Amino acid sequence: MRIPEDKIEEIRNTSNIVDIISGYVQLKKRGKNFVGLCPFHQEKTPSFTVSEEKQLFKCFGCNVGGNVFSFLMEYKNISFVEAVEEVAESLGIKINYQQQSFSDPSGLEELYEINTIAAKYFSSNLFNSDEGETARNYLKKRKIKPQVQRSFGLGYAFSEWEHFLQFAKDNNINIAKAKQLGLIDTKDNGGFYDKFRGRIIFPIFSPNGRVIAFGGRILDPSAKTAKYLNSPESPIYLKRRSLYGLYHSKDEIRKLDKAVLVEGYMDLIALFQQGIKNVVASSGTSLTTEQVQLLSRYTKNIIVLFDADSAGQAAASRSIEILLKQNFEVKVVTLPEEHDPDSYINEFGKTEFENLLNNAKNFLEYQTEKFKKQGDLDDPQRETEAIRELVRIISFIEDPLKRNIYIKSISRKFGLREKLIESELERFFSQNRSRQTGSNQQRFKQSVNGIKTDSKIREVENKFEKEIIILLLEGIEEVMDIIFDHILPEEFINPVYKHVAKIIFENYKKDVFSPSIIVEQIEDETIKDFVLSLSLNNDTISTRYGDDFTSKEVTQKNLIKYADDIAMRYKVLKIDEQLEMNRKKIASGISEEEILELLKLNSELEKEKKTMLEEHNGK
Ligand code: UTP
Ligand code: MN
Repeated sequence: MRIPEDKIEEIRNTSNIVDIISGYVQLKKRGKNFVGLCPFHQEKTPSFTVSEEKQLFKCFGCNVGGNVFSFLMEYKNISFVEAVEEVAESLGIKINYQQQSFSDPSGLEELYEINTIAAKYFSSNLFNSDEGETARNYLKKRKIKPQVQRSFGLGYAFSEWEHFLQFAKDNNINIAKAKQLGLIDTKDNGGFYDKFRGRIIFPIFSPNGRVIAFGGRILDPSAKTAKYLNSPESPIYLKRRSLYGLYHSKDEIRKLDKAVLVEGYMDLIALFQQGIKNVVASSGTSLTTEQVQLLSRYTKNIIVLFDADSAGQAAASRSIEILLKQNFEVKVVTLPEEHDPDSYINEFGKTEFENLLNNAKNFLEYQTEKFKKQGDLDDPQRETEAIRELVRIISFIEDPLKRNIYIKSISRKFGLREKLIESELERFFSQNRSRQTGSNQQRFKQSVNGIKTDSKIREVENKFEKEIIILLLEGIEEVMDIIFDHILPEEFINPVYKHVAKIIFENYKKDVFSPSIIVEQIEDETIKDFVLSLSLNNDTISTRYGDDFTSKEVTQKNLIKYADDIAMRYKVLKIDEQLEMNRKKIASGISEEEILELLKLNSELEKEKKTMLEEHNGK
């Protein structure tokens, strides 16, 4: 069953984002927009912004944003369809569902569907079968309550080789797709067999709660196979982008503005069960930049809690580096040897565990102590190396003020002059730069702010492109007419603006002008965030061209004039650029014939420019 496209359209057009959000957040008018305290993170001054005109919202504090549907999806943890239904109900719009099975051109929906069916199958094995008894006993021994087992969707895979295979065949599951998802595999002689056998199953959820993969823990301790088996990557599961437990913990992480990072599935569930619900697990691999980016939508504060063994400690160090590069506030807890978070909380209880968290050390103290324990500070040669390593870690912190505090701390700890540490830091800066290890955001900012060239024109061009995108995001048909009459998306130089312009243009061709629809189609989170801030910034063009007291028509008229103006100036700029390029070529010593050719071209360009200016001024 699905909601017809035009119904969604009607619901979107009838609803008012300000009315809907006002049901959950107190909004005040400020200038063109409404602001309030963000419901997605804790704040004292409002950075949560809603635009009635554009039907969009964005929090400039934690970067959540989108249209009315995205708000409800995030706020209530519901799916797109549920959000649409909710808005429809509040408007008194009746939905006539379409019976026909929906189209799935990408084939992804079928993969999600298979995983959902498989998850239900595993769960039923755990709770309802005889063989499941061993699994139930095992989980009991590990102190996971049945209710928690259910909420994490735990299951059991039988030890037989073809049990799931038979189930899949009986239920008309596409076997090739089940193989793609890593649920079954091919035998050497051609047949199929179950990948997960004799294992406790942990479904891995996307942040929106869809089953994207599975982890399976072996039950038989004497089995000569990996303790945990995980689904391979698939079109719906990118390991480096998923964090185990985030779906269950994201609300709490936002509420507390803090996350605890552990290694294992069991660690996460054990903490969650005891009421420490702001946890995510890296699932054994070392943390990736993409995982950190994902987490940064919910908080920038993290406590790293890895096993005391050397593998765990090495993973902790690598994770700290990645977290610092993404501007996280990083603290670390070291557990006593022989313990992991799961065993610790089950032995000592929640209060003891919270004590550990409250006494978490900042990453610098942690690292220093680690060196001390290893005896690195007993020998001058090794001490130098250790200090250098500390400075190297600090060099990843972007905030100069924060960095300075750590410099002072190192200076005090080791009795070194701050100047000395600063000069060491400088060396790492240039190394970082040459290795281009800046954060993704930095790199993104660089690419948005323009490709560095020696041409002044390029820089100006980039500013124009930004201005044009902002104009297009005003959602006014006439403005779009003018811009797209003069400039096509392919002509944009900056790749980010080009990408956004293309999406806007595709919509424009279908008579869709509303930014709240356009934004929904941007898949890349970073670009989406960026577009939302362009669109909801207080310095948007409509603010410059009209205030609260100017009528909408006047603002629109001004905007149309401005669009005309900017489109023309951008064109002229492009011509100037062409002229400059040709002149450079002429000066570079090419053949006379080519020179003549270019001169002719340039005079034509000059003429074109002149006509354009005259036409424009004559208007
Ligand atoms: P651990 O070996 O620390 O296991 O691996 P654990 O989480 O404490 O598991 P229990 O308590 O013995 O049941 C930590 C994490 O590393 C990944 C898993 O995600 C695991 O939770 N891992 C470990 C694997 O992916 N494969 C393995 O073979 C082992
Ligand atoms: Mn464990």
